[in-house]
Amino acid sequence: MTTSPEKSELILVTGASTGMGAATARELAARGYYVLAGVRREIDGRSLESSRIRPVILDVTEPEQIADLAALIDTDGRPLRAVVNNAGIAVNAPVEVLPMQEWRRQFDVNFFGHIEVTKAMIPALLKSHGRVVMISSLGGRLAQPTYGAYSGSKYALEGVSDALRRELAPHGVTVVIVEPGAVRTEMVGRGGITLKKVAADMTDEQERRYGGLMQAILAQSEGFLRDGVDASHAAETIATAATVSRPRTRYTIGRDAALLTRLARILPDRLLDRVLAAALRPLFPRSR
Ligand SMILES: NC(=O)c1ccc[n+]([C@@H]2O[C@H](COP(=O)([O-])OP(=O)(O)OC[C@H]3O[C@@H](n4cnc5c(N)ncnc54)[C@H](OP(=O)(O)O)[C@@H]3O)[C@@H](O)[C@H]2O)c1
Repeated sequence: MTTSPEKSELILVTGASTGMGAATARELAARGYYVLAGVRREIDGRSLESSRIRPVILDVTEPEQIADLAALIDTDGRPLRAVVNNAGIAVNAPVEVLPMQEWRRQFDVNFFGHIEVTKAMIPALLKSHGRVVMISSLGGRLAQPTYGAYSGSKYALEGVSDALRRELAPHGVTVVIVEPGAVRTEMVGRGGITLKKVAADMTDEQERRYGGLMQAILAQSEGFLRDGVDASHAAETIATAATVSRPRTRYTIGRDAALLTRLARILPDRLLDRVLAAALRPLFPRSR
């Protein structure tokens, strides 16, 4: 990674402890920005800390931490070039079996967290004519079975981002949505743990209804992880989306996201249902 001369501008990246957030913090620092890297534990900040990366404690579901960060940015004085709303979790299970507290946890992080961080940063972004980058997902354009909560949170984020882009454009603030496909990060493993936990609590009848599907989805996610792009590759697109002077409204990451977001746009629902079912069918356990 080549390093550019220092620019006197701040960029906030949420969820920077691992995966795309950590890679994006490093990529932006290499491009010369001073990065505030949101982490939930001090220990996660240590490996990121450098002359251009300052770890800040930020759980996006904690209003006080968000307010403290907004105050810190205000007193810093350097313009806030961008906020990269990247933090996220994947809580996957069939709609019927996912407990309500898990639905709320999914939306608290992937949706309300980003809204609250963005609201707190808007005053600084208005001053700097800065940018909001929302890390959505291929799952924000296409909802696989068992992805109801995750896709629901990302579809909601896409809708709010469209509204926000139209609200803030007249005031010089741009809003960009990034839609990654499969990226090799901690997310698939973490999502798999939740899926298995929920599966263990299913009734026998639910197990008969969804057990095979859940196994097929787990196998498919493992394939995604194998074939996905590196977090550093994703970070280059995210850093470009955050800093290029005339950004597109949406960026996809990976060939899967480019192809499937297009298919989701043009195929009739029933045909898309058949395409997705056909891709899953060979992954169901053999005995079924
Ligand atoms: N990987 C993919 O294939 C993929 C595809 C499409 C979209 N995405 C999106 O990309 C973004 C980054 O995910 P990733 O793949 O890089 O996964 P990851 O490695 O699991 O990173 C997720 C990050 O979010 C943080 N986080 C979780 N809950 C948080 C909270 N309440 N407050 C603040 N931070 C929190 C995690 O911090 P802790 O370590 O403290 O938990 C971690 O830093 C997510 O929005 C995800 O939905 C990922």
